Amino acid sequence: GKVCLAYSGGLDTSVILAWLLEQGYEVIAFMANIGQEEDFDAARDKALKIGATKFVVVDVRKQFVEDVLFPAIQVNAIYENVYLLGTSLARPVIAEAQIKVAEDEGCFAVSHGCTGKGNDQVRFELSFYALKPDVVVIAPWRDPIFFERFAGRKDLLDYAASKNIPVAQTKAKPWSTDENLAHISFEAGILEDPDTTPPKDMWKLTVDPQDAPNTPEDFTVVFSKGKPVKLVLQDGKEVTDAVDIFLTANAIARRNGVGRIDIVENRFIGIKSRGCYETPGLTLLRGTHIDIEGLTLDREVRSIRDTFVTPTYSKLLYNGMYFTPECEYVRSMIQPSQETVNGVVRARAYKGSLIILGRSSSTEKLYDATESSMDELTGFQPQEASGFISVQAIRIKKYGESAREKNKP
Ligand code: ARG
Ligand code: SIN
Repeated sequence: GKVCLAYSGGLDTSVILAWLLEQGYEVIAFMANIGQEEDFDAARDKALKIGATKFVVVDVRKQFVEDVLFPAIQVNAIYENVYLLGTSLARPVIAEAQIKVAEDEGCFAVSHGCTGKGNDQVRFELSFYALKPDVVVIAPWRDPIFFERFAGRKDLLDYAASKNIPVAQTKAKPWSTDENLAHISFEAGILEDPDTTPPKDMWKLTVDPQDAPNTPEDFTVVFSKGKPVKLVLQDGKEVTDAVDIFLTANAIARRNGVGRIDIVENRFIGIKSRGCYETPGLTLLRGTHIDIEGLTLDREVRSIRDTFVTPTYSKLLYNGMYFTPECEYVRSMIQPSQETVNGVVRARAYKGSLIILGRSSSTEKLYDATESSMDELTGFQPQEASGFISVQAIRIKKYGESAREKNKP
């Protein structure tokens, strides 16, 4: 039968491809273009040379930005206070494209090169089963026949040599990466010691903040219902296409060293893991979005969203639950929270930081400069604030009384 393999062009999935052929399967090699820096033609040549029947690359960048990254910005998604979910956000989009290819090509099974210890196996497979419940999943790194044969990197290299699989001459980097339009991840290898500071040359997307330009770079983001709809550059150039907005935000952040992350996180399966990430554009867009919400979002809507929706949605994404009833339910709560989030944020990228310069909204009236002014008496009478405090103080005075009672010797 036919198997649709998520092929990366690297050593692991090349060996998996050859091994699947050896098991008697016919293989369709699938690759998503999700904005990673990649030589798709080289990957195609390699997959076909190893013996894939066909190589299919699907461009999912627009879908990734509009359907997944924009909602993540609208909800200020974040995991364990630090991780902007760059890999987690991409998985549902890749899985959906892979299932589509599997169906178009008449594959009974899908396969991937995820290890048996990580989040990605869970994210891919739960997505596969939601989208095609009868699909068969072949996960070689969890199959003893495979992992006992390829116990070490040398076994993979020897097998590759025996199958005439070209192995890139570049020395293998001592960590593993995953890249898309929003981020790149670095994990494993020398990073497994959480006290090892990443070497300067590990970082790929952003310049070292210390080497970033001494002149700040200013830009303006226009938000409509919580989505970035226009980015205005320092030279006045305007960008409005969704993917272009993302790419341009990436470019600004990258040359100014914005978006580096280093975290020890809790994987869904219960293991702690150290990860380093670069999330350039998303850091700028999310940060300016949080700012415009200050001006335009109702306090209580924001509070409910921050308490329930943001952490729940982030965790569901992290745990691979994108195509679940609970995630659909929580996702449906994002848009209604953003109806008033309309306005403009002027900001600056400078040596690793996002600095907010100012914000405005021509349509939203929640912020009233006269009302909050220290120089004007309008809106309500000062005596009314005295009443507000008196009533608030009723139970606090009671608490104070009993606390004093208890402390009496
Ligand atoms: N720890 C991050 C996450 O779980 C990054 C995973 C990177 N995946 C990979 N196949 N290299 O989202
Ligand atoms: C992997 O284990 O395949 C990568 C890391 C992860 O999925 O968490």
